[in-house]
Amino acid sequence: MPKLHIVVGSTRPGRLALPIAQWTAKAAEQHGGFDVELVDLAEAALPLLDEPAHPRTGQYAHEHTRAWSATVDEADAFVFVTPEYNYGPPAALLNAISYLHREWLYKPAAFVSYGGVAAGLRSVQVLKQILTTLKVMPIPEAVAIPFVFQLMQDGRFQPTPPLEAAATDMFDELLCWTDPLQILRKSAAEAPPRGPVAP
Ligand SMILES: Cc1cc2nc3c(=O)[nH]c(=O)nc-3n(C[C@H](O)[C@H](O)[C@H](O)COP(=O)(O)O)c2cc1C
Repeated sequence: MPKLHIVVGSTRPGRLALPIAQWTAKAAEQHGGFDVELVDLAEAALPLLDEPAHPRTGQYAHEHTRAWSATVDEADAFVFVTPEYNYGPPAALLNAISYLHREWLYKPAAFVSYGGVAAGLRSVQVLKQILTTLKVMPIPEAVAIPFVFQLMQDGRFQPTPPLEAAATDMFDELLCWTDPLQILRKSAAEAPPRGPVAP
C-alpha cells in the first residue's frame, strides 16, 4: 500500500493545523487506499536551513537533516495541511521543503488549506509553484476550508459534508498518481546523473 504523509504545515503553539491534520489523517485511513502517517513539522524541529551543501548533493552535515531526509524518503504521496500567513505559506513549511531535493522528486501532493474567506488558497498557489521545482506533482483536487474558526469545537475540527466529500475526491485522485510516479521514480533513479551539481 502506498505511504501517505499528512504534513502538519504550521508549528505555531495553538495551531489549527494539528486538529485539521488529525481529521485529514482519519479521513485518509477511512478512505483505505494508503498507509497513513501524520508528519509534524513541530516535532521535526528543523532550524532555519543550516546545511552548507546544496540539497541536490544529498550531503547532509546535520542529524536533523538526515532524520528529515529519512522521513520524506519513506513517502509515496503527501497531503500538505497549510494555513496562509500574509497570503503565503508558513515559513516553517517552506523551510522544511527547502532542506531536501531527491527525496521529493516525482511524488504527488494534495493540499488541505484553511483560513478566512480565501480558505488558505493563496498559500496553496505559492506552494504549488515551489513544489513543481522539486518535481512534485500537485493535484487540483483539494480541501479548502473557509472561515475555519466556525468549524472548530473544543479544539476539534468539525467538517461539513461538502468538505468530507472533497477529501474523498482528493484521496481518490492522489491514489491515481502514486503508481505512475513510483514507476517514474524508479526509472529516474536508474538513469545516469544529468549535469553537474551546483555547489
Ligand atoms: C502571521 C499570520 C498571518 C496570517 N495571515 C492570514 C492570511 O493572509 N489569510 C488568512 O485567511 N488568515 C491569516 N491568518 C489567520 C490564520 O488563518 C489563523 O491564525 C490560523 O489559525 C493559522 O493557522 P495555524 O493556527 O495552523 O497556525 C494569519 C495568521 C498569522 C499568525
